[in-house]
Amino acid sequence: MAIWSSAPRMFAAICFVTFWAQSSGLDYVRPPPRPILYTSHNGSEAHPQQIHISVAGKDHMRISWVTEDKSVPSLVEYRRSARRKYEASATGEHTSYRFFFYTSGKIHHVKIGPLLPNTVYYYRCGGIDIGEEELSFKTPPDTFPVELVVAGDLGQTEWTASTLAHIQKIGDYDLLLLPGDLSYADNQQPLWDTFGRMVSPLSRSRPWMVTEGNHEIEKALIPIIAPPAFTSYNARWLMPFRESGSTSNLYYSFQLDAGAHIIMLASYADFDKNSAQYRWLQNDLDNVDRSKTPWLIVLIHAPWYNTNLAHQGEGESMRKAMEELLYRARVDIVFAGHVHAYERFTRVYDNEPNHCAPVHITIGDGGNREGLAMLYKTPPSPLSLFREASFGHGRLKLVNQTHAHWTWHRNNDHNSVVGDEVWLESLGEQGACKDLDDKLVGSVIFEAREEL
Ligand SMILES: *[C@@H]1O[C@H](CO)[C@@H](O)[C@H](O)[C@H]1NC(C)=O
Ligand SMILES: *[C@@H]1O[C@H](CO)[C@@H](O)[C@H](O)[C@H]1NC(C)=O
Ligand SMILES: [Fe+2]
Repeated sequence: MAIWSSAPRMFAAICFVTFWAQSSGLDYVRPPPRPILYTSHNGSEAHPQQIHISVAGKDHMRISWVTEDKSVPSLVEYRRSARRKYEASATGEHTSYRFFFYTSGKIHHVKIGPLLPNTVYYYRCGGIDIGEEELSFKTPPDTFPVELVVAGDLGQTEWTASTLAHIQKIGDYDLLLLPGDLSYADNQQPLWDTFGRMVSPLSRSRPWMVTEGNHEIEKALIPIIAPPAFTSYNARWLMPFRESGSTSNLYYSFQLDAGAHIIMLASYADFDKNSAQYRWLQNDLDNVDRSKTPWLIVLIHAPWYNTNLAHQGEGESMRKAMEELLYRARVDIVFAGHVHAYERFTRVYDNEPNHCAPVHITIGDGGNREGLAMLYKTPPSPLSLFREASFGHGRLKLVNQTHAHWTWHRNNDHNSVVGDEVWLESLGEQGACKDLDDKLVGSVIFEAREEL
């Protein structure tokens, strides 16, 4: 009796495991979450720590760092590699914040420039050298190719360390994009400091451009006396929102002179048609000249397309509000995080394949403490071309005006493997999609549907 009644359950379990193995496409043992790494600061209180740099308008970079000593000036001295002395300097702004019993260090933001493209600059912060090795960063090139790293939901675990190590090992890149969920501090403010220290060797050498995820909100349990949402994120990760005409650090855009426009949208700010974000997006898209900017890329946190069981439907109201704007602007790619796995969709608009619409990619597998999102909807959607729950990062190489190569690199214990790759063609220069007027949109959707 017991045998008979357990048989269907056994069968269901076998089917499930079989599907799971098939959907991953590999005999790959899923790694479990790993512990948090707490990165300490060894220098004096005046020593710069948690340094990161970001694009800050045309030909400019913002250098951000923290000192425990509040008397350190917000000063950056810099020079090109060929010279010996610091030949330029700039002073900037500083801030700090309180969060219940925690008081942050002095958070410095200094904008420097004008800077030359594709050039190494040496610099120091607050007039203090941090060691034998001088700090340096490289500005993005103003011609193709340009290589972008994309890593989401990083956190600060041993898996994060593995992802960061793989990013460095696989090769040089020009700029890193992070579609939200940085430190996973979740109100424990010292974890913002340990995160800043952990990523600093990378984030002080190449621009790191981030947008916010739900873990940046930190809306505390006691609303009346609690600091406002995004207090820590906005203080520490100031992005070029003023430079891009936005009124909120939660959404902004920036231009890569080689020919790419990158828009960071806010999944956790108002996005309906009457919102400031919607109006800003409309205006920002209107000002993109696709003849000079073949690549148009958007980042969000909560994915609009997702076949993982985690976070189902969370991006749906934003998709309904904003997808048409992105579609009409011929956005090439939409990157999202939030779901701790990797998934690549075909070009899709309004849940239908559409060759004039963006490719959607979920890349929330940077290595945070919550672990992987293992379970997927069945049957698989024909819109979803590749999906796998493994830690890793992605690279988008903008090869030239028409072609880009996307690769996803799975973290393994010892080596990093290309798990997925695809060539993409820019929608900016493609005649068939470029001149499409509103009346034709319906027929294109119809044609695309017939192809499948
Ligand atoms: C801090 O000190 C520890 C132990 O001496 C060392 O392993 C680590 O590399 C140091 N970190 C930095 C950022 O210098
Ligand atoms: C752009 O790169 C692709 C892929 O390498 C190549 O096939 C194509 O000819 C290139 N186009 C131009 C204009 O160089
Ligand atoms: Fe998230």
